[in-house]
Amino acid sequence: MQHDPYLQELTAVTNGLFHRARVALAIGVTGLLMGLAADPAHATDHAAAPSAKAWTPASLRGALAALPKGDAERGRVVNQQLFCASCHGENGVAPTQNWPHLAGQKAAYTAKMLLDYQSRLRLEGKRAELMHNIAVMLTPQQIADVSAFYASLPAPGDDGTPRPPPRGEGMSAAQLVRKGDPARLLTPCASCHGVKGQGGKLEASALAGQNPLYFTRTLLDYQSGVRANDAAKGMSTFAKKLTRGEIEALAAYYADLPSRNQ
Ligand code: HEC
Ligand code: HEC
Repeated sequence: MQHDPYLQELTAVTNGLFHRARVALAIGVTGLLMGLAADPAHATDHAAAPSAKAWTPASLRGALAALPKGDAERGRVVNQQLFCASCHGENGVAPTQNWPHLAGQKAAYTAKMLLDYQSRLRLEGKRAELMHNIAVMLTPQQIADVSAFYASLPAPGDDGTPRPPPRGEGMSAAQLVRKGDPARLLTPCASCHGVKGQGGKLEASALAGQNPLYFTRTLLDYQSGVRANDAAKGMSTFAKKLTRGEIEALAAYYADLPSRNQ
């Protein structure tokens, strides 16, 4: 157990909570986390629950439009009071070197993820199970507010996570980002995620400054099919065409993007 990196992440966070948070509330979250860690039902990865309904572009647009207007200042309070900050950072920059940064993320993408965690449409593993248990506590107003808060923050800079060493296979990240690969019907990443990785239309996420370990993990999850919450299955299709070396090179490219843009 001691060697399970996921449990070590949780232990680090709960220890941190006792220092930083009001104890009564911290006990509640600790119970949630410990319950998760100890419950064998949560110990294995699950496929998306059959009840979770896949999005169509129209149903997604409708659900996002139905959310109330978000307020970044209220979102800052949600980030603190619901302990998002203990895992994702007070300013959306995760203190671990393994969890996603949310700073600079597009509001529509964050909101979609929170809805997907609520419905269990996004349920690729133990970390996603954890987010499901947290997301079900959020009201639509809190979802809108916290999404507006992250969107108001600048993209994270270098988070100190070592970049994956190049494997020297496949196409260069810069080429995949700007030109894609017509031979594999790979659309340039930039056409949806923006030339600066700032994100694009609707739920096309910002990628600039994202943690490279999370980036790699989530693309491998799309590739294997355990992450299956993307609306038009575009990302799953693209991910399946990339080699492991290309994914890691893209992770390093996007992690370094904010410093290159300065
Ligand atoms: C105990 C730690 C923890 C807490 C507390 C927590 N998260 Fe998370 N969050 C995670 C982990 C771990 C992931 C997913 C990592 C993965 O799938 O590899 C995640 C994923 C996410 C994502 C998806 C990120 C992406 O790029 O797709 C969003 C959005 C998010 N969390 C928002 C929140 C919000 C809002 C709160 C507070 C209401 C919160 N989280 C509280 C650990 C936490
Ligand atoms: C046709 C548009 C499109 C193209 C091209 C595209 N993406 Fe995406 N990407 C999306 C959308 C939309 C999402 C959000 C999917 C969801 O809801 O899970 C996404 C999600 C992602 C995520 C997950 C973000 C997170 O925080 O979890 C990563 C990483 C990613 N894309 C990387 C890439 C890379 C690398 C390329 C180029 C090889 C690429 N994408 C090409 C539309 C696109």
